[in-house]
Amino acid sequence: MSDPTTRSDPTTFRIDTGTTSVTCGSGQRVLDALLRQGVWIPNSCNQGTCGTCKVRVTGGMVDAPPAPDTVLSDSERDQGYVLSCQSTPTTDIVVEPPADESGAHHHALRDLAGTVSSLTTVADDTVSVTVSLDDPFEFTAGQYVELSIPGTDQTRPYSMANPPSESGTLEFHIRRQPDGLATDGWIFDSLTVGSSVSMTGPWGDFCHREDEPGVGLILLAGGTGLAPLKSIARAALEADPEREIHVYHGVRTETELYDVDFWRALATEHPNVRYTPCLSRQQWCGRAGYVGDAMMADFGSCRNHAAYLCGPPAMVEAGVRALKRRRMPPRRIRREKYTPATSLLTL
Ligand SMILES: Cc1cc2nc3c(=O)[nH]c(=O)nc-3n(C[C@H](O)[C@H](O)[C@H](O)COP(=O)(O)OP(=O)(O)OC[C@H]3O[C@@H](n4cnc5c(N)ncnc54)[C@H](O)[C@@H]3O)c2cc1C
Ligand code: FES
Repeated sequence: MSDPTTRSDPTTFRIDTGTTSVTCGSGQRVLDALLRQGVWIPNSCNQGTCGTCKVRVTGGMVDAPPAPDTVLSDSERDQGYVLSCQSTPTTDIVVEPPADESGAHHHALRDLAGTVSSLTTVADDTVSVTVSLDDPFEFTAGQYVELSIPGTDQTRPYSMANPPSESGTLEFHIRRQPDGLATDGWIFDSLTVGSSVSMTGPWGDFCHREDEPGVGLILLAGGTGLAPLKSIARAALEADPEREIHVYHGVRTETELYDVDFWRALATEHPNVRYTPCLSRQQWCGRAGYVGDAMMADFGSCRNHAAYLCGPPAMVEAGVRALKRRRMPPRRIRREKYTPATSLLTL
């Protein structure tokens, strides 16, 4: 994948959204150009696997790699829809952005740099990394940045685990993927305290909604999907220390659990916070099974709550089904799937 911000060709194109017009460099992606110039488009994976960033091109031409039918249907293609995160203009274009229902604050996308200030192994194959930023950075709890992998033109998304109020540092929870380019090949190999890190952000519309005061939150995490939920829980408690929050963290075995002391201390400080770690492949003194099942055992109805789910796609889908079975309104269910960057290669 080429770096969309590198412009060897000085040609630029215009992207007209009907209400505003921005410039787009040669080779730059439509989504990147719009977000950098303050035009919000709903987006999630930025890697062509979710379909959130679809826009209809009503004038001009774009280059776009093939997208799977599950992400962009034939009918949508016929109507001129493209994935804005994958498409580069080849002429000036006119686009129809979709409606935004995320309730997110729209922070402009930017390049960021920082230095690793701590790197700690917190569980099996899992590290917590803190990066001190060169400049303060605005984001909404739940969002992510794309880390540039040194020596390559590749990036990988990682969610912020700290609340936006800590604007000078970013906390990440990262799990090793065997043979993974970013994890095995860099983060778990050569990244160390003092290493320089480059990234872009903030990305994504998995965002803490600040316009639902008093609504109890159910947070379902799988593995390092706990990261954005920690950010959301801390931001929600900063706004209202008495907010009802139920955190379910699912991993396979006890050696994969992390941040246990943090959540137990939070639950002691805030009696309105309940923390439930769940192990799916080990019997122990705590809850066994999947997070969705544990949640269903605790709630007769989720009609008056809102949920945030994050982790591997299968865990997120099972959690959404569980919440719907407990009658949570679909508009109150927000999710982020940690889809592998290379999953398109198998389609
Ligand atoms: C929006 C978003 C936010 C994310 N945030 C985080 C985060 O905060 N913490 C975190 O640890 N990860 C997060 N991820 C996943 C992360 O971006 C990388 O995909 C992951 O770290 C693997 O990258 P890699 O370069 O090491 O592996 P790659 O080189 O991309 O993959 C190597 C091989 O492993 C397979 N693979 C990769 N990931 C998985 C997986 N999860 N399950 C099964 N097979 C896999 C690939 O298909 C490939 O065959 C996030 C993903 C998304 C989409
Ligand atoms: S397909 Fe573009 S953001 Fe997911």
